[in-house]
Amino acid sequence: MPGTLYDEASVAVGNHAHEILFGLAYAHVRPGERLIDLGIGSGLSSQLFHRAGLGIVGLDSAERMLESCRAKGIAEQLVVHDLASRPWPFERARYDHAIACGVLHFFEALDPLLSEVARVVRPGGLFVFTTMERAAPTPTTIPVFVHSRSHVLERARAHGLEAIGDVAFDTPASPSRDAHVGFRAHLTRVIGAEGTAST
Ligand SMILES: C[S@@+](CC[C@H](N)C(=O)[O-])C[C@H]1O[C@@H](n2cnc3c(N)ncnc32)[C@H](O)[C@@H]1O
Repeated sequence: MPGTLYDEASVAVGNHAHEILFGLAYAHVRPGERLIDLGIGSGLSSQLFHRAGLGIVGLDSAERMLESCRAKGIAEQLVVHDLASRPWPFERARYDHAIACGVLHFFEALDPLLSEVARVVRPGGLFVFTTMERAAPTPTTIPVFVHSRSHVLERARAHGLEAIGDVAFDTPASPSRDAHVGFRAHLTRVIGAEGTAST
């Protein structure tokens, strides 16, 4: 889907995942910090962090989504890459923070992603992301995977990500808003080498 259509669909459905994710994170980020958006799409989440003064680097496998993001002028760099292909083309501790909004439910296994996040984000940096906890009542064309809160927290901890907070929310499955998908936004921090989260 072209990014402009994605933006229109997001408004029509009443999708506020971006604001929820930003709201969880904003007290912990500072202007001038560098953030990588994994599955940036058209940049709906990153545009909020851009307005807060962070430098944005985006990664996505869909060039058409990146075209739309590029047109918004919010990102310093946009990279076409499949998250399933590891290692990601970024050096260790390159970023202050990472976000992934509406992306992890496309992956059955979280460990490969979490291990790469823990590599490319500096100790003390945030990883803020959403997971799906309840799928739509009707099957989707693209397969999606539900992950329980306890499973997400356990796997995050296993990769050195300390949970700071999380919030569950529902998003309408369609513009008619008569059925909903259950999501959770997670705020985590990469634990420092000494085993405690640095600030
Ligand atoms: C639901 S959209 C969310 C976009 C954006 N994060 C937002 O909050 O609006 C999911 C995005 O993840 C990207 N994506 C899905 N699977 C991916 C993969 N394996 N590698 C990279 N990007 C992927 C899609 O191309 C799409 O842009």
